[in-house]
Amino acid sequence: MLRKGLPLEAALDNAARDLERSDDRAFAHAIAAAALRRLADLDALIDGATRKRLPDDAKARFALLIALVQALELGTPHHAAISTVLPLVDGGPRKLVHGVFSAIMRSKQTLPDIPSLPEAVAERWREQWGDEMVAAASRSVASQPPIDLIGDPPADIEGISLQPGHLRLPRGTAVAELPGYDEGKWWVQDISAALPANLLGAGEGRTVLDLCAAPGGKTMQLASAGWNVTAVDVSESRLARLSQNLERTGLAAKVVAADVMTWSPPAQVDAILLDAPCSATGIFRRHPDVLHRVRPRAIAELAEGQAAMLARVAGWLKPGGRLVYAVCSLERQEGEQVVSAFLDRRSDYRIEEEHRLLPGRFEAEGGADGFFIALLTRIGS
Ligand SMILES: C[S@@+](CC[C@H](N)C(=O)[O-])C[C@H]1O[C@@H](n2cnc3c(N)ncnc32)[C@H](O)[C@@H]1O
Repeated sequence: MLRKGLPLEAALDNAARDLERSDDRAFAHAIAAAALRRLADLDALIDGATRKRLPDDAKARFALLIALVQALELGTPHHAAISTVLPLVDGGPRKLVHGVFSAIMRSKQTLPDIPSLPEAVAERWREQWGDEMVAAASRSVASQPPIDLIGDPPADIEGISLQPGHLRLPRGTAVAELPGYDEGKWWVQDISAALPANLLGAGEGRTVLDLCAAPGGKTMQLASAGWNVTAVDVSESRLARLSQNLERTGLAAKVVAADVMTWSPPAQVDAILLDAPCSATGIFRRHPDVLHRVRPRAIAELAEGQAAMLARVAGWLKPGGRLVYAVCSLERQEGEQVVSAFLDRRSDYRIEEEHRLLPGRFEAEGGADGFFIALLTRIGS
């Protein structure tokens, strides 16, 4: 998966295809996700126990990662953890894998309480945001995010409300069984992801383009705030989820399957929300693969795409209208730099608000995703 640069979910769709039982597939996912969260520390344990360094892509290293993460992080009994991986190295480095695993178990080594980030990521973030951000990110890597309900969450169930229209519940809560789910009074959305649409306020029937909209968290927010929403996304499968979400919540939006880089709206609109495709480094708690997969080159390419998209859609806004640009990225290149380069070129735009949401936000209550969000105005004629 890391070799091919695939996101965890896509890699697992392939790798776990042959597992018939859904709990087996869920366990495979848990192992892979935990190994990705703990990769730097697991690799260090392996390197400390081998005389000759195993290459990064050696089969023996993968087998050891799977066994060690089960034994040290997921509470699997040691003998079960090792016996599940030995068949993977049959006819190969079986002895080595068994020996290294046993040595680490015998020495009673454990994983550090606070996970280490991959060195390249820690360095990149330290340079951009400083030591405290890197420490907060490290503390949150191993934590699995709680569930945030946005909209009109039930008042009679226990949870933490961090702002109006928000309720935080423990991870694993069966949300489909909560009151109001079928009526669509609320939906699941990270509290940080709710800010971009909130910045646009009440719609009062005005038009908004929700660009790169699927699966529709922000579309639902905008529709429920009274906007007349056109939701555009290039992915048919993700749009199917958006349509299901609208159906469940009884909210209305015009849904358009199109590439923002070739499509054009029939007329200028009152507001635009552009949730541009990005490195997704801000959601590393949910998708720990981004910590290992996203390299500087990909970030630079994404930033170019974001700049091109922002430049294109800027012409679709009425003078006096407002545009929100958002990315769930922790890279300045995809956030601050895209917006400042845009403002350098477009004298008809001015910045109203800029929000940089970093790890550490709401930490005591369970954390929040990382985002960059800018609210821009097109200067009226
Ligand atoms: C960050 S996600 C959007 C999340 C969504 N706004 C929400 O709140 O649920 C980015 C989306 O951009 C879409 N996308 C990527 N490139 C696109 C393009 N050129 N035109 C339209 N949509 C695109 C992807 O299919 C993906 O659904």
